Amino acid sequence: MSNALKEYLDFCQKRVEIALEARLPGENILPQKLHQAMRYSTLDGGKRMRPMLAYCTGKTLGIAPEALDGPACAVECIHVYSLIHDDLPAMDDDDLRRGKATCHVAFDEATAILTGDALQALAFEILANDPSITATPENRLKMITVLTKASGSQGMVGGQAIDLQSVGASLTLPELENMHIHKTGALIRASVNMATLAKTDLDANVAKKLDNYAKCIGLSFQVKDDILDEESDTATLGKTQGKDKDNNKPTYPALLGLAGAKQKAQELHEQALDNLSIFGSEADLLRDLSLYIIQRDH
Ligand code: IPE
Ligand code: IPE
Ligand code: MG
Ligand code: MG
Ligand code: MG
Repeated sequence: MSNALKEYLDFCQKRVEIALEARLPGENILPQKLHQAMRYSTLDGGKRMRPMLAYCTGKTLGIAPEALDGPACAVECIHVYSLIHDDLPAMDDDDLRRGKATCHVAFDEATAILTGDALQALAFEILANDPSITATPENRLKMITVLTKASGSQGMVGGQAIDLQSVGASLTLPELENMHIHKTGALIRASVNMATLAKTDLDANVAKKLDNYAKCIGLSFQVKDDILDEESDTATLGKTQGKDKDNNKPTYPALLGLAGAKQKAQELHEQALDNLSIFGSEADLLRDLSLYIIQRDH
């Protein structure tokens, strides 16, 4: 990771931690167990890649981080909800997440379901009401639409449904790509697109290039996640390594082999960079982030 990216990642991780902490209901507020579980799953963990993408898009476009705390927190809340539900026995049945017990193990299954539900609602409450969002009312509404679509049956949840239907199946490459674009790509794309909406009257071509960049890294992110599931280890990942094989999931390494999957990730990184060619050094963090996504070890 470049020094510039490391520095900005540290800054964003600290920033979003404070912003999330301030927006999550306190543990002493009723119902206490639910609020404890929301805080347990959301705070102090994860790479915060989606908030980071929102802030780095802002850096490219000259948008202050303050104006992006709302979208950054909202997308992280949706992401954490997706992880909590992804780990449930009815889905991937995982007991380790971000280096600690998954929500349903630390609390119980019903609480984990409700924690995900509540985080989803909180995400949209933040987008609708948070005073830190300075976008025009029209663009704020567009942000809400972007995140609802990315979260729903034609976005992340749809991808998760395809994932569960595909257990034990041998998907074609286009089918696998479609699943990944939805289950993981959609929220990554939304992170960039919500940030571009923080800028009034952004040139449509610039917005389109950033959207195309986000599509590429959204897919490369899940290709790399599949690779890591195969070749990393549980301690580094903070989640159980080898679960995809155990659960008979179709993945990029399963279909293309590890070398083929790595080649695919590299190609997506190059396509991501092509879409940034209209920018100068102001997009260097986005360039570095795309490389980090395919080189990361967890
Ligand atoms: C894991 O996401 C689940 C996927 C969508 C691939 P991350 O790798 O971003 O998980 P955290 O947020 O860092 O824990
Ligand atoms: C999860 O994909 C995508 C989500 C929407 C949560 P995975 O099932 O591969 O994520 P991990 O590997 O458990 O983090
Ligand atoms: Mg899964
Ligand atoms: Mg999983
Ligand atoms: Mg995985």
